Amino acid sequence: MPALTVTRDAGVAMLSLDVQGAPVNTLSLGLAEEMRTVFDDIERDSSITAAILISGKSDNFIAGADIEQFLEFKAAEEAEQASYTGQKMLSRLERLRVPVVAAIHGACLGGGLETTLACAWRIATEHPKTVLGLPEVQLGLIPGTGGTQRLPRLIGLPAALDMILRGRNVRPRKAMKMGLVDEVVHPAILRDVALQRARELGAGTRQRSKGRLERGAEGLLVERNRVGRALVLKRARQSVMQQTHGQYPAPLAALDVIRTGYEESIDAGFREESRRFGQLAMTEVSRQLIFLFFATNSLKKDPGVTAPAPAPHPVEKLGVLGAGFMGAGITSVAVQQGTLVRLKDTDPARVGKGLAAVREVVKERYTKKQITRQQLDDMMALTGPTTEYTGFGNVDLVIEAVFEDIDLKHRVLREVEPLLPNDAIYASNTSTIPITRIAEASTRPEQVLGMHFFSPVHKMPLLEVIATSRTTKEATATAVAYGKQLGKTVIVVNDGPGFYTTRTLSAYMNEAGRLLDEGAAIDAIDRALVDFGFPVGPITLLDEVGIDVGGKVGLVLADALGLRMTPAEAMRRVVTAGRLGRKGRNGFYKYDASGKKGDVDDSIYQIIGAGARASAGQHVRIPDEEMVRRCVLAMVNEAARCLQEGILRNVRDGDVGAVFGVGFPPFRGGPFRYVDTVGVATIVRQLQELNARHPPRFEPAELLLEMAQTGKTFYPTEGRPVA
Ligand code: NAI
Repeated sequence: MPALTVTRDAGVAMLSLDVQGAPVNTLSLGLAEEMRTVFDDIERDSSITAAILISGKSDNFIAGADIEQFLEFKAAEEAEQASYTGQKMLSRLERLRVPVVAAIHGACLGGGLETTLACAWRIATEHPKTVLGLPEVQLGLIPGTGGTQRLPRLIGLPAALDMILRGRNVRPRKAMKMGLVDEVVHPAILRDVALQRARELGAGTRQRSKGRLERGAEGLLVERNRVGRALVLKRARQSVMQQTHGQYPAPLAALDVIRTGYEESIDAGFREESRRFGQLAMTEVSRQLIFLFFATNSLKKDPGVTAPAPAPHPVEKLGVLGAGFMGAGITSVAVQQGTLVRLKDTDPARVGKGLAAVREVVKERYTKKQITRQQLDDMMALTGPTTEYTGFGNVDLVIEAVFEDIDLKHRVLREVEPLLPNDAIYASNTSTIPITRIAEASTRPEQVLGMHFFSPVHKMPLLEVIATSRTTKEATATAVAYGKQLGKTVIVVNDGPGFYTTRTLSAYMNEAGRLLDEGAAIDAIDRALVDFGFPVGPITLLDEVGIDVGGKVGLVLADALGLRMTPAEAMRRVVTAGRLGRKGRNGFYKYDASGKKGDVDDSIYQIIGAGARASAGQHVRIPDEEMVRRCVLAMVNEAARCLQEGILRNVRDGDVGAVFGVGFPPFRGGPFRYVDTVGVATIVRQLQELNARHPPRFEPAELLLEMAQTGKTFYPTEGRPVA
């Protein structure tokens, strides 16, 4: 079945794209072939005066290139050739005898947007599903079908850099202001307006769009002038380096390619674009990012339980226990999805504070013009604050987020359970306490599970659902479905102390504590791990999470998992000294009154016990490589244990959980992909070397030893990375 169908309306050819059997339209080499034939026909038929490119899908224009095809490239030349073929096709579209109007409704991304850039006129619908963007850098690539050349010429260099280097999407109104689209219309009239414009363009009563040039030339002076342009490009490069520490080659390549286009010629720019696209497609970074893309997509379709999966219960009303940091955060995302929430805390002041925190999150969306005033009011009206258990009689799900204290958790469970409907599900947001232990207080433990959100809830993409051996499939499937409804990527793990994320993170942070014990400088540890690719270093993270919280977690895990988790002495001392981290403005770093982080608070070295050395400015220099290896392998080894013990269902969940929950560098794919990349035998050897010096912390997980012996890998070495 062809993807393109051509119909005629007087002299206008309507090209409707609908890739059969796929939920969204993607560009492929097969489609390029079809387009060539259609263009040939149009060139031959002189009765055609204009054309329209429109989607046959209900709410998708073109989602981008078919990424699966990318994985089949065996050499840079193949990827380069594919890019070149795409470029040729779009150049042909641009130079077609008749003008082509792009009628955009739904996602118009990557190659989809590049296609519209080659059109004579662009109309987008005003609709929440309509977004435009070039997300290639998020896959470690650059736009490969002319986007790096046509976009800056259409909307100006700074705006184009913002889109290409960050892979950020823009909404139709903004796109119109930028000159990326020429008109924004209601979806109902898209076709009619497109026809009208096609006729005008065909008759010569309207000229091809010139993008921003048409909207006055303010700002264009900078990019027309060589010096100004060089300055813009230089600043952009500095900002990329600052954000990526040079770990992501794609944005840097994009900058080179854009420069070539300006300094030599657009054709040289196209050639460079293909060449660099080909090279990038072969990089490890791109492979890992593409893996993560597939992995998160496959999680979207995963019900979280084995087949046959029961239907999840709808969650329309939610009860939240504890209006603190997490309770308020969970409420803020729930009301945004239209869930009615009962938010309970112990006294009016705490409830009031929670409510204010919910409002702050929701209001930010209003301030950013993502929702209307009415929507803001409606969302707030869904939040029902209470200091009693009133209103819990008809909730579908309770999420408990009271202090991390097993006695308190038992008490609130016992209090609320008799008031709930029989089929209500009870979830705890604990970050460490095994759910099985919490469920001991329940009369229906099969309806108890963990829903471990991360802070800040409205920003962190992951939800870790924890099922005990007694949790029903219905309850798990319901928690998973509801988590997805809240916009989260959801992994399901089995119960155990610290589950997966807290456990691996603790192993990592504790190793950073050991480095402090040995006299390493706080900022040196953080810098080394940020250079490896973590968003923040482990000590900064501890300040963020709360030193008190970290301390409690450390004790629970040491108790449950034994010697290798024994808290570092430095950490123990800082906890005992009552330091709290950022929330108390007294952490490893200095914080101003607004909570902004400053330099290391040197006085903390006195507490750690490395005081004398620190005041003399003499820290023990441990090479970065050693610090990184110790912290990262502590995490990786613990992840392998979680897999071998069945805490994790599979490696995919472990990798996605580490990247989205713990901050493992995305371009390294996650701990299991990291082992595969480095080689399991090397990892085991490194662990053994470390263990000889620091027993028993680095004793390699059985699973790793076994894999090293048999030469196995976590992922298949050929073909698609996710089953
Ligand atoms: P928090 O201290 O900000 O809030 C806890 C709230 O529970 C307080 O407002 C307190 O008044 C309330 N509370 C105490 N007894 C109560 C009762 N009987 N009924 C109703 N409310 C009661 O603590 P946070 O940070 O929100 O943590 C809550 C839970 O979430 C803990 O189990 C924690 O381990 C977990 N968690 C925390 C994360 C974080 O980054 N803060 C991340 C993931 C999980």
